[in-house]
Amino acid sequence: MDTALPPVRPGIGVEEARIDALLRQERERYAASHPRSAELHARGRRAFLYGTPLHWMQLWPGDFPVYMAEASGARLRDVDGHDYVDLCLGDSGSMFGHSHPAIAAAVAAQAARGVTAMLPSETGLWVAEELQRRFALPYWQLATSATDANRFAIRLARMVTGRDKVLVFQGNYHGSVDETQVEFGPDGRMQPRTNVHPNGMDHQRTTRLVEFNDIDALERELAHGDVACVLTEPLMTNVGMVPSTPEYHVALRAATRRHGALLIIDETHTISTGPGGCTRAWNLEPDIFVLGKAIAGGIPCAVYGVTADLARRVWEVKPPVAQGGERRFIHSGFGGTLVGNQLSLAAVRATLEQVMTEANYAHMTELAGRLARHVEAEVARHRLPWHVTHIGARAEYMFTARPPRNGSQAKLGRHGALESLMHLYLLNRGVLITPFHNMVLVCPQATADDVDRHNRVFSECLDALCAEGLQ
Ligand SMILES: Cc1ncc(COP(=O)(O)O)c(C=O)c1O
Repeated sequence: MDTALPPVRPGIGVEEARIDALLRQERERYAASHPRSAELHARGRRAFLYGTPLHWMQLWPGDFPVYMAEASGARLRDVDGHDYVDLCLGDSGSMFGHSHPAIAAAVAAQAARGVTAMLPSETGLWVAEELQRRFALPYWQLATSATDANRFAIRLARMVTGRDKVLVFQGNYHGSVDETQVEFGPDGRMQPRTNVHPNGMDHQRTTRLVEFNDIDALERELAHGDVACVLTEPLMTNVGMVPSTPEYHVALRAATRRHGALLIIDETHTISTGPGGCTRAWNLEPDIFVLGKAIAGGIPCAVYGVTADLARRVWEVKPPVAQGGERRFIHSGFGGTLVGNQLSLAAVRATLEQVMTEANYAHMTELAGRLARHVEAEVARHRLPWHVTHIGARAEYMFTARPPRNGSQAKLGRHGALESLMHLYLLNRGVLITPFHNMVLVCPQATADDVDRHNRVFSECLDALCAEGLQ
């Protein structure tokens, strides 16, 4: 036994009092060093309904969010002049780096040549054909956000199956899609999420909820015969990362087919795994494939693709009133005048053609691995009961000894104060990570030095957390 090492630590492995003391220090340091952000936020509270343009922006640790000045590649500068290595990347929206030169040039050129005409263009056709090739699905449609793409995918599923319910997993996030805003209550029954107003939704009518990686529960819920679709990420990324296995996906696919439910795979985050997402890497067979956020380098856009079989079933469903004559009927309800605008399409084309390349993914994956290996070694050095999950360009450290199997386990492993402390500790030393949990993402422009900056500060943070005696 190596007596130089401290004993394995129980629970989260660090004293609550130390976390609280360090968090106080870091909050004070943050407030003192970000006066301009504080001033702008004070103004924002008088102008924005929830204090920031998007209410989530208030969830950054610290008493106010960082106000950004500019960003490029893997770097972001705030209004107080601090430079950060950005491993948050807009919670995946800028997965391929801020203002990637190829995307910025394509957008600038298109902005001068017409943005919105509600007409198709050859660029759009190029995009659809490239999506066909890359994701092996024959028919594609666009939306302005991943949330909308998921809504439209659910609409298609309901249309063709004639069923009402969407099956989702505990701890899921697929955007602000009303049907998905559910969780298990203390009595083990599905209830509206406590932090989301139910807004008149009757979730008992619209939704079934199951734990991830639990095929028996999935079978039981699908057996009711009222599920139009299962909506899932290949692995969960929004409640902490919850890995899955290829075997699980084989069983999930077989069960959905057997029970006549469609399978929607949402790769909005997991496209960080590789140029074809997990779908290509693991040979998944979704009926509908959804991708948003980074697909246009952060410009609003999302895409969804469907199988030939599903397309045929969609065409067979006649809307109550045909528009545009017998042969050209359309189904309304898939809204968005700005969908398929030329700016977004130019950005998608540049992203697919020049940025989502094998070479870029190899670089991103190598650097995310460098980060994960360091975190793993440091966690082991301090004998902390934590683990790190790494897949492709994404990694996450969580405060449990083993990766969670499902959303409930992941929630139990969360520790708000410790998460906030680590965020602020890194932020105060020039590293941004995702604000909601400790997820990091590496973009193509990041360097080994950028990752090593994270790694150095991470080590310092663990040393401070595990030092003997309170400071
Ligand atoms: C897996 C997944 N799908 C969909 C969304 C919704 O994306 P947007 O907010 O861009 O609509 C998110 C957002 O985090 C997501 O993580």
